[in-house]
Amino acid sequence: MTLVIDSYIHHHKLPLKLKSILVGELFLARKLKYPVYVLSEGLFTPVIGEGSVPTKEQITTLIKGLYREVFLYQEDVESIKSNLESALIKITRSLSVGDPAENGNKGIKLLTLNLNNLYDNPHRDELLIQQFQSTQNLSKFLLENKKLHSQFFKNLGQESFHFTLAQPMLSSMLLLSFLQTTHLFHEREIENLFMTSYLKDIGFSMIPDDKYDAKNLSEKDRQLFTNHADFSFGLLEGRIPLSKTHLNIIKNHHFLNDHIKAIISGQKRIQTQDEMIMGLESTLVAVFDILVAMTSDRPYRQGLTLYQGLEVIKKIMADDYPQEFKALVAFLRHFFKN
Ligand SMILES: [Fe+2]
Repeated sequence: MTLVIDSYIHHHKLPLKLKSILVGELFLARKLKYPVYVLSEGLFTPVIGEGSVPTKEQITTLIKGLYREVFLYQEDVESIKSNLESALIKITRSLSVGDPAENGNKGIKLLTLNLNNLYDNPHRDELLIQQFQSTQNLSKFLLENKKLHSQFFKNLGQESFHFTLAQPMLSSMLLLSFLQTTHLFHEREIENLFMTSYLKDIGFSMIPDDKYDAKNLSEKDRQLFTNHADFSFGLLEGRIPLSKTHLNIIKNHHFLNDHIKAIISGQKRIQTQDEMIMGLESTLVAVFDILVAMTSDRPYRQGLTLYQGLEVIKKIMADDYPQEFKALVAFLRHFFKN
């Protein structure tokens, strides 16, 4: 009887002691002190025993079982987070040493995992600066390894990251690759636009997790989503070395959304005040964000094909930037040819 009561009390105290991490972060674990749990049908079920190092097979099984998160004791979580931070610093400082394809994939994956930590702790300066510096190093490396862009994009797309984590990197990689192809921008400006695009959704950290995959949102929740660009601006202003111009691109990165809504509902295109003051750079940051969002699946809808996505982009871009739109079509054809 005592055993049953103990087990009952233990079980009901578990949620207070456990913290969640992404399944992929288990790759950073060394020997764990306590078990790893999944939340299954409302109960915490141990899946990896205490005192062990999670194996690749165990982690892959969890990913295949569609578990996004696992739950661990605080002590183990802290050790994994610290391993992740050191691994990220190490790889993004030495991306060009060794096999660039392997390093790039690893760096991109670690950055994406670390972005989740930033969403959990958006006010932690060291975490933000580390993410900024690592992303900046990655942008330089990407500029030096043009041939690997589509491979990196494809590999990240195949990882089972939630869209809030994958989309910033996917849209920014595509943007960087396009900007480099056009030869219209200096490398420094491409780097800055890459950083701008990558950090534009940091305001997602202010939105509760359960809202992302909801099919129907209340008006209040919808407003919360609309405000994420302002949240991003508020979180980044004065904390990272990006110019006012770039921060303003972040603040306004959804300036084309009303347009899209008008197109989808068959209304005529109306140019708003905001749009008139936004330039080519802002348009491109927004366009790649929209393109990646439209062409990827969500829990509540299927993604469009690239062709369908481009039809929408054409309507919001081709009048003001006909040459750039043509260049975009040619670029995407080449980027996704395999
Ligand atoms: Fe956004």
